[in-house]
Amino acid sequence: MSSGHENRPAIPRHIAVIMDGNGRWAYRQHLPRVAGHRRGAEVVREMVQSCVDLGIPFLTLFAFSTENWRRPALEVRLLMNLFRLLLRREVRKLQENGVRLRIIGDRGALDRDIRQLIEEAETLTRANNRLQLNLAVNYGGRWDITQAARAAMAAVQAGEFAPEDLSEAHIARHLALADIPEPDLLIRTGGEERISNFLIWQLAYTEFYFTDTLWPDVDRAVLEHALHSFAHRQRRFGRTGDQVLEADCSVSD
Ligand code: FPP
Repeated sequence: MSSGHENRPAIPRHIAVIMDGNGRWAYRQHLPRVAGHRRGAEVVREMVQSCVDLGIPFLTLFAFSTENWRRPALEVRLLMNLFRLLLRREVRKLQENGVRLRIIGDRGALDRDIRQLIEEAETLTRANNRLQLNLAVNYGGRWDITQAARAAMAAVQAGEFAPEDLSEAHIARHLALADIPEPDLLIRTGGEERISNFLIWQLAYTEFYFTDTLWPDVDRAVLEHALHSFAHRQRRFGRTGDQVLEADCSVSD
């Protein structure tokens, strides 16, 4: 394993995942789509355990996007029920494993009982520090940037700084997950290769890994493959390859 220097880190600190392919998995098994989501929820559990085992401190999963409301009403209802069930049943397990749960997204549109369960789960697990699991629910990257811009505008109105002094930092500090490192690695399953309005600001320098494996079929081997691919990337952050190599040499000198 390498030094952990930012250009060639061996293990990502933060993995973000677009869990795609539940519907196709169910279709192939001649099952209703919700069966794919149910199996998908089990894979979430396994993924959390793998990240705990591997010492990855931050995991962010895209569970429900601001666009997913466009799905058939029945599927939306079943997904929300699954979310309820996870919040009721899994939180104790997360607590035992030292996992902190955070939900990111616009909670205003969620049912009141779900908002209540979220608050209870976040409060119960807030002191845990083995793994922070961020579930994106009713989340969209454009929503995130918009709400951060709104907060920055309020700061301008309060006289904290002038509009012409607005900087990236003023936006970034109000984004979801502003207090943790940006994702090092994005994994998208299910064969599509797009961001789908996930963490569009936070993914600016993230390494992407796409796999055809459908989310319900994801296992430890898929994760290890993604980690292996990540470990062989050179992260340049705008610099040249030579500059990065020089910086690496001076770090190890
Ligand atoms: C995408 O597959 C998956 C989702 C929109 C939902 C993700 C939900 C889970 C993995 C279950 C866990 C749930 C929570 C709330 C944590 P798709 O339905 O778009 O699949 P398809 O592209 O094959 O149709």
